[in-house]
Amino acid sequence: MDTPQQHEDVISPPPPPQAKWWVDGQRIRHKGFWFKPEFITATEAIRAHYTPLPSDIILASFPKTGTTWLKALTSSILRHSSTIHNNHDHMDNLNPHELVPFLEIELFGETPSKDITKITSPRVFNTHLPLSFLPDTLKTSGSKVIYITRHPADTFVSLWHLYNNKFGTEISIQEAFDDFCKGLVPAGPYFDHVLEFWEARDQDRVLFVTYEDLKGKPEENVKRIADFLGCETMVEKVVEECSFENLRNASKERGEGVHWSGTKYDMFFRKGVVGDWKNHLTQEMMKELEDIADMKWSGSGLDLNIFNNSASQ
Ligand code: A3P
Repeated sequence: MDTPQQHEDVISPPPPPQAKWWVDGQRIRHKGFWFKPEFITATEAIRAHYTPLPSDIILASFPKTGTTWLKALTSSILRHSSTIHNNHDHMDNLNPHELVPFLEIELFGETPSKDITKITSPRVFNTHLPLSFLPDTLKTSGSKVIYITRHPADTFVSLWHLYNNKFGTEISIQEAFDDFCKGLVPAGPYFDHVLEFWEARDQDRVLFVTYEDLKGKPEENVKRIADFLGCETMVEKVVEECSFENLRNASKERGEGVHWSGTKYDMFFRKGVVGDWKNHLTQEMMKELEDIADMKWSGSGLDLNIFNNSASQ
């Protein structure tokens, strides 16, 4: 007769595919996306224990697409709102990452560093999880999701720089690029991540914004975000307060600390421009990204032209 252990081995699903990514260790593929194992555990905790409130605001993003900027903008929009009352801390004292906690690790990780029950409304959270990983109740809760995305070439270049700086690695850009194209990066594949939020845009309270639109027409897009949140705010002040220079200088002046991921806060501010890929990628690499976009986004109405809008350096 089988022992319980042997029996379990027979009925258990095969272990998830695993892979080692450039620099910082193991990744597991879960429902088509690559994450560190602790993210998968946290996803389960979120689905089981996070009850979205109608006033919740979720800032969703793929890493390196403008997360820090969106956190700053949303905090500043609320701070200068004449219609939504909140008594949150603000950027005079804190880094945007300290103002907006990360759902999957800081709130629902194995050892949460923050207590969700102590956060006052409107609660603003950030996540790198794909939409399909978030609780189904999000759709009916009335809470709002803002998704920021960015051209894959600049996203990749930003990611490559960050990991080289953070870990002092010397991985070749070609090797790193091949992993990015395969999807083997945190929260990857990039193209699938973007597609999920694209398909939900303008429904289920999902606002889709691009880094390039924010750079090209900051006032117009800050107003769009504020309108989506249902609040009137001081648009010019928000744009100024959250400019790359202001955020980077404030971060330097505070000489502050380290994000939960181990990234020093000042590493979130590198160049802050559109089109830096031209300094790093070949035309062949760009062609490869275009081909993947054509294949993965085919029939969705999404293509790389959405990133061409009014972007300036
Ligand atoms: P670069 O590496 O291309 O400079 P994330 O916050 O998702 O990690 O993204 C980081 C990227 O956003 C970095 O891009 C960073 O410089 C840029 N960034 C941060 N704050 C910004 C701001 N206020 N305005 C424009 N870009 C900003």
